[in-house]
Amino acid sequence: MNMHKYEKVWMLFGSGTLLVFLIVVGVSAFYMGNKPPSCAVTLDPEEVDTHTLFKEPGLTQIGDNEYQLTIVASAFDYDVGNDEKIIQIPKGATVHVSSTTKDVIHGFEIAGTNVNMMLEPGYISTYTNTFKNAGTYTLVCNEYCGVGHHLMAATIEVIE
Ligand code: CUA
Repeated sequence: MNMHKYEKVWMLFGSGTLLVFLIVVGVSAFYMGNKPPSCAVTLDPEEVDTHTLFKEPGLTQIGDNEYQLTIVASAFDYDVGNDEKIIQIPKGATVHVSSTTKDVIHGFEIAGTNVNMMLEPGYISTYTNTFKNAGTYTLVCNEYCGVGHHLMAATIEVIE
């Protein structure tokens, strides 16, 4: 068979890029594992209630102007440590947020800030944010999780 020189070159280029693509996909899916980008630490989703970080959700001061905020998500609720579902954060504070889910995948977005995570059972999602502007922010679930998805919310008040 008589093939044009450029045809060979382009076929080689085409198969080459396909091979590179398959290797990249294969490595990221099977070698690096399938986990949300903001999750490094794992836990047993059955034992969230007794886990050191999550047995008492809420805001804890851990340093000068530094706080730890832990929140447990479940269908269809955010446990922030109080029934009012309000967390008050002093303006300018650096907050280390840790969250996880007890059941299905939930979202974790504090609208109007950079905090936007995915919560997967078995993983602890973390994000550090400095709340520079006072105001009321809403924590919402942005992953569809079932019939009560739209009910999942809590309030973050950044106070002067
Ligand atoms: Cu939880 Cu949508």
